[in-house]
This record gives sequence, C-alpha cells and structure tokens, in this order.
Amino acid sequence: MTTTMRAYVLTRYGGPAAAELREVPVPTPGPNELRIRVHAAGLNPVDYKTRAGQLRVIRSYPLPIVLGNELAGIVEACGPGVTRFAPGDRVFARVDKDLMGAFAEYACVAESLVAKMPQQLDFAAAAAVPLAGLTALQGLRDELHASPGRRLFIPGGAGGVGTFALQLAKQFGAEVATTASPRGEALVRRLGADVVVDYTKQAFETVLADYDGAFDLVGGDTLTRSFAVVKRGGLVLSIAGVPEPQTALKDLGGRYGLAALFWVASAGLRVRGAFRKVRYRYLFMHPSGADLADLARRIDEGTLEVVIDRVVPFAQIGEAFAHLESGRAKGKVVVRMVD
Ligand SMILES: NC(=O)c1ccc[n+]([C@@H]2O[C@H](COP(=O)([O-])OP(=O)(O)OC[C@H]3O[C@@H](n4cnc5c(N)ncnc54)[C@H](OP(=O)(O)O)[C@@H]3O)[C@@H](O)[C@H]2O)c1
Repeated sequence: MTTTMRAYVLTRYGGPAAAELREVPVPTPGPNELRIRVHAAGLNPVDYKTRAGQLRVIRSYPLPIVLGNELAGIVEACGPGVTRFAPGDRVFARVDKDLMGAFAEYACVAESLVAKMPQQLDFAAAAAVPLAGLTALQGLRDELHASPGRRLFIPGGAGGVGTFALQLAKQFGAEVATTASPRGEALVRRLGADVVVDYTKQAFETVLADYDGAFDLVGGDTLTRSFAVVKRGGLVLSIAGVPEPQTALKDLGGRYGLAALFWVASAGLRVRGAFRKVRYRYLFMHPSGADLADLARRIDEGTLEVVIDRVVPFAQIGEAFAHLESGRAKGKVVVRMVD
C-alpha cells in the first residue's frame, strides 16, 4: 500500500491559485469509517465558495486541507466497527462537511454517509449524484412537500441541482415551472418541466403566479422576485440566497449566535415574505447514506437521469473549476482519478 497520494489542496483562502495538486499522506480510516479508492469526484459551487473563504462564518477549516465534497469509488479498507460495507464494494458519498477530502486518490468517509453505487452507472456519473441529488431530494421532500396537485417554481433548472430537482419534483407528482436560457431550454423540457420561461428575454414574475412554492437555485435578484410568484401561505425555499435563523437552528446544529446573525442578514427577505404572507426558508442539505440509497434506487429503476456537463482528468481540475465558476454548466462537472 502506497503511503502518499495526489490531492487537490487548499493552502489559503483566495482565487484559483489558492488550491493546488500536491502529494499528501494517505488517510487512515478511524472507527466506523471506510477508506475509499476514489475513482471520480463531482465539483460543486460550494468548493469554489469554500476556496474563496465565502463560507468562513459558517465553517472554518484548518489549512491546508484537501478540498472536495462528493465522490464515487471502491472500498479499500474498513475501520473498526464498520458493518455494512466490505473491501471491494462500489460506493458513492457526499462526504462529511467538516472534513471534505473528496479531491484525492483516497478518502475516508463515515459509513453512515455512504451508499452502494447505482448498478447502472459508471464512477464518473455516480460521483455527480450525491451533493446535488441530496439537495434536490431534501428540499422537495422535506421542505416543499412536492406531491400531486402542488405547483412549484424551480428557477435555474439546467444546473447541477436543477437537473435533479426538475425530475424529482415531477416524480413526486408536482407541476413544475422553471427558468432557462436558450442554452438550457431543450434540456429542462426533456427533464419534464411543464413551463419554461427564458430568463434572458422575460421576467418570470410577469408570466407565473399562484405557485404553492418556489425552490430558488440561483439567489440574488431571482430569489427576491420569486416571492411574487408564490401564493399566500406558500414557501420560498432557497439554497443560493441568504440563510435565515432556522438555517442555523435546524441545518447547522442549533447555533444561536449564527441564528442572530442570519436574522439580521435575512430581514429584508423575511419582511418581503411577511408582506405577501409567504414564508422564507434557506436550506443547507445534509449528507445521508440513507437518502443516497433512495437516489440510487431511482437511478437503477431508470426514473432518474444523471446529467453530465463534462468529465475531465484529475490533472485538469483547475480548468474544470474555471468552467463551473463561469456559471454556465449544464448538469454536473466531474473529475476522474482513475481512467
Ligand atoms: N444550500 C445548499 O445546501 C446547497 C447545495 C447545493 C448547491 N447550493 C447552491 O445552489 C446554487 C446552484 O448550484 P448548482 O450546482 O446547480 O450550480 P451550477 O451547476 O453552477 O448552475 C449552473 C446553471 O445555472 C443556470 N443559471 C445561471 N444563472 C441563471 C439565472 N439567472 N436564471 C436561471 N438559470 C441560471 C445556468 O444556465 P444558463 O447557462 O443557461 O444561464 C447553468 O445551467 C449554487 O449557488 C450552490 O452553491 C447550495
């Protein structure tokens, strides 16, 4: 067994040059952890936001640290207490937020966060699922209660989270409107969107009204304008805007100081919501092996498609990030550690 491995390491907070490929020690699995030979890892906006230090108020990491939040690979070793997996299993995971470490040849992950890979998928496609897939599932199932008869507005349907969210919302029986530019229109229609507004030509709030909920995947002005589309008693759920007190209490483990900060930061949005009798909530997804197994089942049944923008060799991770940061990816961007 080799003792060092190639990893994409954050050395300081900053721009693209703040992270680099270098040799680091192979990690040792602790109790209830698996060491996974990583075959592929998915990129997410949270990676470049972390690199830039934008999330430091929520979570600060000891530097240097290996970046990367989701992976697919083969179990290579099991720490003490592991019961559900064995060496040789093909698995995927959204790794622990406090540890990261997916952009490496090996990563250690708690078995509770891991699930068996969908049998239909190769490693690159499996690595594209965990973070975006879990976000879409948890937002639609637990917060927006997507179900037959409910009408949901999901702006930003062509991106990593959007491609999962559109399909899951339709599977749950909801009627779905989304926004896309001409670059993404065919994709979002194929994934089941009932109504597509070209956001480059039309303000969506002038053509959409009386939705039961909005799932904002874009933030900024899109989030602010989403309140106008939702009817009284409805919910605007964002994953890309401003956190509110519940985010700190429910998603971040009851952090009261942070709740006070988020209360101030989200005041404008909550007032806007109160004025319209629409609730505002910001969700942080949580890693979950059980929810991941649910997504794997849907993929194996053929009801959930994984949309890949591109797969590039690990050595080109810098270019892959530049593409994701352009904000134009259609589906997911993935790096491959093993050919
Ligand atoms: N809170 C959480 O737990 C959580 C979890 C996952 C993601 N997120 C956040 O959610 C956001 C989306 O993540 P992602 O992975 O889906 O990002 P992404 O893959 O980078 O999204 C890119 C897509 O967004 C579309 N887009 C850009 N501006 C748009 C606009 N104004 N209206 C409609 N579509 C627009 C682009 O389409 P065009 O090229 O056609 O414009 C592109 O297809 C990010 O901010 C991310 O950090 C949060």
